[in-house]
Amino acid sequence: MVLLQPTIFSAIQPSGELTLGNYIGSLSHWSFIQNNNNCIYGIANLHSITTISQKSNLLKKITLDTLSFYLASGINPNKSIIFAQSDVHEHCQLNWILNCYTYFGELSRMTQFKSKSKQYSKNINVGLLNYPVLMSSDILLYQSNRVLIGKDQKQHLELARNLAIRFNYLYGNIFKIPNVYIPNFCSSKIMALLNPQKKMSKSDSNRNNVIFLLESKKSIFSKISKSITDSENKIYYDIVKKPGISNLLNIFSSLTGIKISILENDFSNMLYQEFKMLVADKIAEVLYKLKNKFFYFRNNESYLQNILENGANQARIKAKITLDKVYNILGL
Ligand code: TRP
Repeated sequence: MVLLQPTIFSAIQPSGELTLGNYIGSLSHWSFIQNNNNCIYGIANLHSITTISQKSNLLKKITLDTLSFYLASGINPNKSIIFAQSDVHEHCQLNWILNCYTYFGELSRMTQFKSKSKQYSKNINVGLLNYPVLMSSDILLYQSNRVLIGKDQKQHLELARNLAIRFNYLYGNIFKIPNVYIPNFCSSKIMALLNPQKKMSKSDSNRNNVIFLLESKKSIFSKISKSITDSENKIYYDIVKKPGISNLLNIFSSLTGIKISILENDFSNMLYQEFKMLVADKIAEVLYKLKNKFFYFRNNESYLQNILENGANQARIKAKITLDKVYNILGL
C-alpha cells in the first residue's frame, strides 16, 4: 500500500454464481486500477444472508468461488487487500452504531429495499432493510476516497455519504466523505437477455436472462441466440428503441475494447443472427480463459484460505483505527 495513493473500496455480494455483468461491470476493471490506487476488495458475505436460504456450507463455497474469480480476473493479493466481510468484526460493530444515526424512513424509501421486498415477499427480514447501513460501514471503516459501484448502488453510497456527514457534524472529523466512482466503462450496465430493461442479475429467476461465468460454450450460444432484439434488422445503438441490440453491442464493445461507434459501422449490414454469433463467440473466448484461471485457484483451497486470512489481517488493522475513533468519541 502506497501512502499517498487514494483508497478505493469495492465489494461483491456472493449470493450465487457470478455473471457476465459482474465481470464486465466490476471484475475486469478492478485489476486495472490496482496499480495506481490502494484498493480494498471485499466479499460481502454478511450481505448475502439477507436473501439466500442457508444450506450449511453453501455460503462458504460461494465465497471461495467469488474469491477465485477475483484472482482469475487479475486482482493481486500483493497489491490489493482482498478479504471476506465476516472475517473483520468491525463491520458489524460499526453497523450497530450507524444504525442509531440512520432514520427508518431513509431505509424504507430505498429503491433496492422496495424491489427486494417484492422479490422476497416471504422473507422481508430486517437485514434487507438494514443492508445499506452495513454497506456504509464497509465503506466508512476504510476512510475510502472513492467507492466503485454500479449505478444501481448509487442510492446506497449516497446514504454512506450522508451518514458520514451527519456523524462528522456531531463529533468532528471522524469519517472521510467517500465519492462515488462509476467509471465510464460502467456507465451502461449489462442487461438481462430476455428483458433488456432490467439489469443482468445473478439472482434472476429466469436463467436465460443471464450468462454465468462458468457457462458452457453451447449454452452461451443458445442464450445469446435467444436474446430479445427488435424487428428493424439494423444494427446500431439506441437504448430506448433497441435495448436488446444495444446491450449486445455494449457486451461486445466491453469485451473487445472497440468503441461502439466503430462497431456500428462494421456491423451495419450484418444480419442479427450473424451478429449474435459473433457476440457469443467473443463471450465464449473470454470466459474460456477466465474459467481456466478460475479452476487453477479454486482447486487450491488452502491457498485461498491463506489469502482470506492475510487479507482480513490487513483490513482489520485499518478498520480498527476507525472503529477506535468512533468508540472513543462516543464514550464506549
Ligand atoms: N451491495 C453491493 C452490490 O450488491 C455489494 C457491496 C457490499 C458493496 N458492500 C459494499 C459495494 C461496499 C461497494 C461498497 O453490488
